[in-house]
Amino acid sequence: MIERTLSLVKPDGVEQNCIGEVIRRFEAKGLRVVALKLIRIEQKQAEAFYAVHRERPFYRSLTAFLSSGPVVAMVIEGEGAIPLVRQIMGATDPAKAEPGTIRRDLATGIERNVVHGSDGTETAATEIAFFFNALEIIR
Ligand code: CMP
Repeated sequence: MIERTLSLVKPDGVEQNCIGEVIRRFEAKGLRVVALKLIRIEQKQAEAFYAVHRERPFYRSLTAFLSSGPVVAMVIEGEGAIPLVRQIMGATDPAKAEPGTIRRDLATGIERNVVHGSDGTETAATEIAFFFNALEIIR
């Protein structure tokens, strides 16, 4: 099934000049970028984006980190894009991520883990709409 998912290159990934490397890895697996922008996320917006984690001990730190520098937001499209992007990213904790994944190769910690990818169909729809309107997504 052709799916769309929301991916972010987080502030650590942008700081490390890894925007191109993240996109290259998605494209190398046959995925397509159908929307893309470089933005800054305000603290309040980061809190809204990660609202599902609001009870977690790392919520404040995570949202402060996401708003600490520019991020790239993109919509990725392709066959099984939601699980495929998660596979390319690797496990949340880079120490547990498979070799050859983005997080294993580029991330420096569980919070500073370079990329985000939606974890399911409903989340993908919500997260895409959080960053992009219909006119910004190329068909
Ligand atoms: P992400 O896939 O963007 O979704 C939620 C984020 O919370 C996750 O990546 C991590 O960056 C972060 N996260 C998850 N677990 C922890 C943790 N135990 N400590 C700090 N940050 C975490």
